[in-house]
Amino acid sequence: MQGDEKIEVSLPGGNHYRIILGSGVLDEIPSLTASMLDRKNVLIITDDNVNALYGEKALKSLQPLAANTSLISIKPGEASKTLATVEMLYHEALKSNLDRSSAIIALGGGVVGDIAGFVAATFMRGIDLIQIPTTLLAMVDSSVGGKTGVDLPEGKNLVGAFWQPRKVLIDPDALKTLPDREIRCGLAETIKYGMVLDEVFFAFLEDKISELNSLDILTYTEVIKRCCQIKADVVCRDEKEKSGLRSALNYGHTFAHAIEKATGYDKLNHGEAVAVGMCMAANLAVDDGRLDDAAELRQENLLRQLHLPCSVEFLTPEHIYDAMGKDKKIIEGKLRFVLPETIGEFSLSEVSDKDMILDAIRNCCD
Ligand code: NAD
Ligand code: GLY
Repeated sequence: MQGDEKIEVSLPGGNHYRIILGSGVLDEIPSLTASMLDRKNVLIITDDNVNALYGEKALKSLQPLAANTSLISIKPGEASKTLATVEMLYHEALKSNLDRSSAIIALGGGVVGDIAGFVAATFMRGIDLIQIPTTLLAMVDSSVGGKTGVDLPEGKNLVGAFWQPRKVLIDPDALKTLPDREIRCGLAETIKYGMVLDEVFFAFLEDKISELNSLDILTYTEVIKRCCQIKADVVCRDEKEKSGLRSALNYGHTFAHAIEKATGYDKLNHGEAVAVGMCMAANLAVDDGRLDDAAELRQENLLRQLHLPCSVEFLTPEHIYDAMGKDKKIIEGKLRFVLPETIGEFSLSEVSDKDMILDAIRNCCD
């Protein structure tokens, strides 16, 4: 394993786990999990795309270590993030003889991580979970921090649980097989960290456009490391999103979830919706007198240079506004937005002026 990095996630109350990041981590799964999986029953949950690339290797490598290792593959994509998939996976877990001492491995992107995490959180009232993210988005965000769950027809991530993994194993080499569009989606979440929490990191991304556009794995390793450090710090200070700090990670997401829902989850994927959502949130922040035009323009330039969308077709502002009706960030009927104050700082604001919200959306509708 080359240049491996360890990032500690030390939660209050003694819950502690490690993120291991480095080229070749996927070849080292048995040695990196031996202490947890020895003689246990293990179920790997993945999706069909990831299975074809990495499934058999992971399965075979764990067979000598675990008492029994099984693998179940689901259909790729957000449409799988349902309670029906979860129920199917409970039955598979029983067929694979999982018990309370068993473990689930989530091998895949954020969809697999969120579903497998929720199954681990609820099967037999909670069993061990290892996250092995294979998309950039999952490496920089969803595999760390313990948010798990599924969508309902009424909206995204409306059912879920906080369930921290026991370990996160990240191999940036897996990005080499990831479609370019999915790389861009992960980049949207990395820009999010810079825009609301870390100005230095934002400037680093601006400086590395060419390396990022040419998939330079060393640069991506740096990016993943910094995002995991930021996320670990946030999660350790506000694990259950109570103080407002973790809400920063929802920057752009109130709009993004509405866009995904209004487009039936099949026009833009999550990261693209987040990119447009961040543009809408920055518009709102400018209109509300919080953010200056220059900072908004820096965000837009960075998104464009990394080939991410800053506007959405197919939808009217009213469509998007109406789709925000079931967002988890609505408290006592008021919409709450994470708004940047400057690059690297944010505030959490209730905005009740519908016209102002519609204007912020309208600027990003083609
Ligand atoms: P995804 O899991 O759908 O993966 C995207 C596509 O890439 C899929 O088709 C998948 O099969 C494929 N793929 C995965 N790894 C690959 C690889 N190495 N090579 C080739 N193909 C590969 O999408 P995503 O963007 O990873 O995750 C989006 C989901 O994550 C959304 O449901 C979102 O709500 C959730 N999310 C959760 C959190 C959290 O904190 N839990 C944070 C952000 C996003
Ligand atoms: N991605 C949002 C969070 O983990 O809180």
